Amino acid sequence: MPIIAIIGGQWGDEGKGKVVDFAASSADVVCRFCGGPNAGHTVVNPQGEFKMHLIPSGIFYPGAKCIIGSGVALDLDILLSEIEELRARGIDMGRLLVSSRCHIIMPYHILLDELEERERGGEALGTTKRGIGPCYVDRVARRGLKMSDLTDKQRLKTRLEFILRQENAILEKLYGAPPLDLSPLYQTYCHYGERLSPLVKDTEEVMDESLREGKKVILEGAQGTLLDIDFGTYPYVTSTSTTAGGACIGAGVSPQKLDRVVGVFKSYTTRVGNGPMPTELKDETGKIIRERASEFGTTTGRPRRCGWLDTVAARYSIRINGMDTIALTRLDILDSFPSLKVGIGYEIKGKQLDHFPPSTALLSECTPLYEELPGWQTSTTQARSFHDLPSRAQGFVEALERILACPVGLISVGPHRDQTILRDGYSFWP
Ligand code: IMP
Repeated sequence: MPIIAIIGGQWGDEGKGKVVDFAASSADVVCRFCGGPNAGHTVVNPQGEFKMHLIPSGIFYPGAKCIIGSGVALDLDILLSEIEELRARGIDMGRLLVSSRCHIIMPYHILLDELEERERGGEALGTTKRGIGPCYVDRVARRGLKMSDLTDKQRLKTRLEFILRQENAILEKLYGAPPLDLSPLYQTYCHYGERLSPLVKDTEEVMDESLREGKKVILEGAQGTLLDIDFGTYPYVTSTSTTAGGACIGAGVSPQKLDRVVGVFKSYTTRVGNGPMPTELKDETGKIIRERASEFGTTTGRPRRCGWLDTVAARYSIRINGMDTIALTRLDILDSFPSLKVGIGYEIKGKQLDHFPPSTALLSECTPLYEELPGWQTSTTQARSFHDLPSRAQGFVEALERILACPVGLISVGPHRDQTILRDGYSFWP
């Protein structure tokens, strides 16, 4: 019953989609456990390029069952469009299941996300405006709607009447925005419920059965550790638990079952949205990385902030998640640089700091201390084994392993499946 979690180690966009797609070739079940349509997982395979917001990246393997776990906030309009789009491109969607415990992003959540961001003015978080935060607020306030609420129309109406009174009071009194009408909202969600009901299951039970049958299971993360609601750079975070702990909660499996935690890290750092990022490069080098790597948000198209790899933050992520292996992505983006930098510490008010500070205010004042490493100035995109890499690229990977005290099991040198190097003897499965 091997079960592994694949977790983003930075501020999201680490290339988890590609790593999950690669690992899923030998998996029986892939379960997305957090986030919502704020995520954008890009997968490039022989069938083409796919950008998915909700559907697990294992969907391209006919043998893999794909589950959207209870930790995911669902926008049903986006989910249905994504299902239709994949089906139209020949992907079998009969293997997709949705947890009946998933919370639903409602139209008022999207409005509130937009209005709250506007109200924050210069302190805006830079959210994706997909309604994620307000949906999880309602979850915690115990007035959220779950997929299971859609199966009983009378219950849906009663709950929606109560919820809408509260949401409309916020919309009108706090923001001076027009209220929403119950009737069209109710009709729309009854309709969504009917269309999606064949997919909605007690997926936690399915997961348990799969584990008892000895199936191989991947828990697919979204966003990254530094965007985690508890351990990220609060308040510049998303509203779910993106870490390995969150994987168990959002998929409904016991922490005792987890065999391995794979941390996905880009060979440099990016961040989209606001908040501190000590190794951000606002100069020409940052621009070169952005352009070379097409670092623009999959969900919003915003340019991503780019900088050198920050190993202080990476060590923190490794510790918080108990990551036992690193999947290092986009090594090829560094191919052209004559020399490379890696953030190995911070300086704050003349003092050196070698750990990730718990306060975002402190992190904002940190300036990075760098170790400089020689670049290789040779293309790595054709390398298929570690020994195919230029020796300086090998040295870069080995330096990271030393600094992070964690082995690198997989290296990605391009978007395609075959542009993936597995270190000698490395397997995703224990
Ligand atoms: P929200 O998740 O839309 O509320 O946005 C909160 C913060 O998380 C913002 O800085 C977003 O840019 C960031 N964020 C959310 N999802 C992703 C993602 O998939 N990749 C990168 N950043 C994300």
